Amino acid sequence: MGETAPNLFETTPDGASGTGPAYQAQDPATSLYLGDCRQVLPILPEAGTVDLVFADPPFNWDVNYGDWDDSMPREDYEQFTHQWLDACIEVLAPNGSLWVNIPDDTAAEIVLHLKSRGLTMVNWCIWHFRFGQCRNSGFITSKVHALYFCKDPANRIWNPDAILEQSDRASIYGDARTMAKETNKGMRVPMDVWYGKYWGRIQGNNKERRSAHQNQIPEVYLERIIESCSNEGSLVLDPFAGSGTTGTVARSLGRRSIGIEYSPQSAASAWERIHDIGMVRKGEGIGASSAIFASRGGSRASTPHGDGGS
Ligand SMILES: C[S@@+](CC[C@H](N)C(=O)[O-])C[C@H]1O[C@@H](n2cnc3c(N)ncnc32)[C@H](O)[C@@H]1O
Repeated sequence: MGETAPNLFETTPDGASGTGPAYQAQDPATSLYLGDCRQVLPILPEAGTVDLVFADPPFNWDVNYGDWDDSMPREDYEQFTHQWLDACIEVLAPNGSLWVNIPDDTAAEIVLHLKSRGLTMVNWCIWHFRFGQCRNSGFITSKVHALYFCKDPANRIWNPDAILEQSDRASIYGDARTMAKETNKGMRVPMDVWYGKYWGRIQGNNKERRSAHQNQIPEVYLERIIESCSNEGSLVLDPFAGSGTTGTVARSLGRRSIGIEYSPQSAASAWERIHDIGMVRKGEGIGASSAIFASRGGSRASTPHGDGGS
């Protein structure tokens, strides 16, 4: 890994008054910009070459993100959403993929907007977690949408073999046929609902947890996306870096990456994680069964998965 060059300057939280990243390192090239992604994205020298964007925006749920206003009038939030989506589309390479992590209240708007811009939806995945906030007024929220779009479905980067999990045929039914396959015995591409061990929300004493960060998402989530939708050396971009999950996983997996974060405090903490700490569960979330039923008499025992995190 290369040396850090803490270089807090130029792109300020209130606008793109400069041009350079606040933090950068080499091998693989990794950078983190400070500022509003709508202003930073158009000045990136890498515009048009980004292979994969992962975006986990503020949800406008009045979360404390420092100076960022997370309780805008709805119209303003939708305008903000369209602006950052368009800026991401601009930096994406012709074979690039774009993932968005978004809750129920804005998922439909994002899908419609991306379709209107000519992108193709590959999957509408669900990240299912337990420990949603208790309420009586409706069903408890236990999911976020993971929307997978691309510019060119025929030419996107797609590496299913890197993210296979044990199939139910193998883990529940002990089906000999799947074990007789020539390749990938007992394995399958994961389903589009994601849950299981290490897939819980990052809270409490979870060993991934970074203090003072809101809505940190699990490493396994980014590992699945980055492994399947980019190659070693590819360029991955996160316009809302937060605690730095995307940059951390990208760097640990040998991808180049660019992060953008509005809060200087979050950016400093994210950079420490990206550059000095790295993944703490590398590879642990790949390959196991996600079965929710115990083995039915097959020879291969399975353990129903909870939502364990620590
Ligand atoms: C939902 S959090 C991202 C969490 C991240 N995925 C993680 O795993 O830690 C959203 C982040 O976007 C930042 N943010 C809000 N508005 C922004 C903007 N316009 N440009 C860049 N970052 C912004 C917030 O400060 C916050 O850290």
